[in-house]
Amino acid sequence: YFDNGNKLFDDARKNQYAIGAYNINNLEWTRAILRAAAETNTPVLIQVSMGAAKYMGGYKFVKDMVEDQMDAMNIKVPVILNLDHGDYEAAIKCINLGYSSVMFDGHKLPIEENYARTKEIVQLAHSRGIAVEAEIGKVGENQDTSSGELADVEDAMAFAAMGVDRLACGIGNIHGIYPADWQGLNFARLQEIAEAIDIPLVLHGGSGIPKDQVQKAISMGIAKVNINTEFQLAFQDATRKYIENNLDLNKDNKGYDPRKLLLPGTDAITDKMKDMIEWLGTPAVA
Ligand code: G3H
Ligand code: ZN
Repeated sequence: YFDNGNKLFDDARKNQYAIGAYNINNLEWTRAILRAAAETNTPVLIQVSMGAAKYMGGYKFVKDMVEDQMDAMNIKVPVILNLDHGDYEAAIKCINLGYSSVMFDGHKLPIEENYARTKEIVQLAHSRGIAVEAEIGKVGENQDTSSGELADVEDAMAFAAMGVDRLACGIGNIHGIYPADWQGLNFARLQEIAEAIDIPLVLHGGSGIPKDQVQKAISMGIAKVNINTEFQLAFQDATRKYIENNLDLNKDNKGYDPRKLLLPGTDAITDKMKDMIEWLGTPAVA
């Protein structure tokens, strides 16, 4: 079912485009994302955080759901299934379940320990043909300009030499909502890293970064852009509008049926993802 993405992301870095990595939270997110990929005929990375997997009942449920929806929707484009920001146990679990890609996020550990743990995951994953993403430096936290930490160039070289397939580097990026006083991406550091290593680089916190900065980062070596909050905002906005315009949800229009109520938000995710595909320059598959 799942592609490990190695060829796709290598090609992306080489040819200066990116493939989106889109977080799922439930069935609607999964279908919205698969639909945008199918309608644009572009490869897609679907990822699940530990929290979202827990919300949905576990990693196996998530994998089975994505597979079943791929069947039901007759999906032909390459789909990569990735664990997002996994700890050691979660990474092992997803490797054993047959995810095609795992992110082991050891950025909170001392760098030596992050390195050693990542190496163990790489060895196990590679023995099964599964790709690994690691993180160095720190992606900032929601609305907090000062919480990030730039990745170190020598660390990047060590992790690339170890064999990680893709590397998430702190370059001034922040998860969630960007605050008004955000200074923008640190292109100087990105350039140093991109000159030092040639593996595909990952931009976390992809929601809310101005288009020109996203595209500049891609031209410099970012090949995977992670998007989560953007879809949550799109879903929330469309759902709120639907409810505001259908105040008699429980009357004639049967707007209380969840299959109707959740549709505008779901469509909004598909639309937003098509915009992102255009931003990232993700090419259609041959
Ligand atoms: O790992 C997931 C991403 O980094 C998502 O970040 O919610 O800011 O788009 P975002
Ligand atoms: Zn992230």
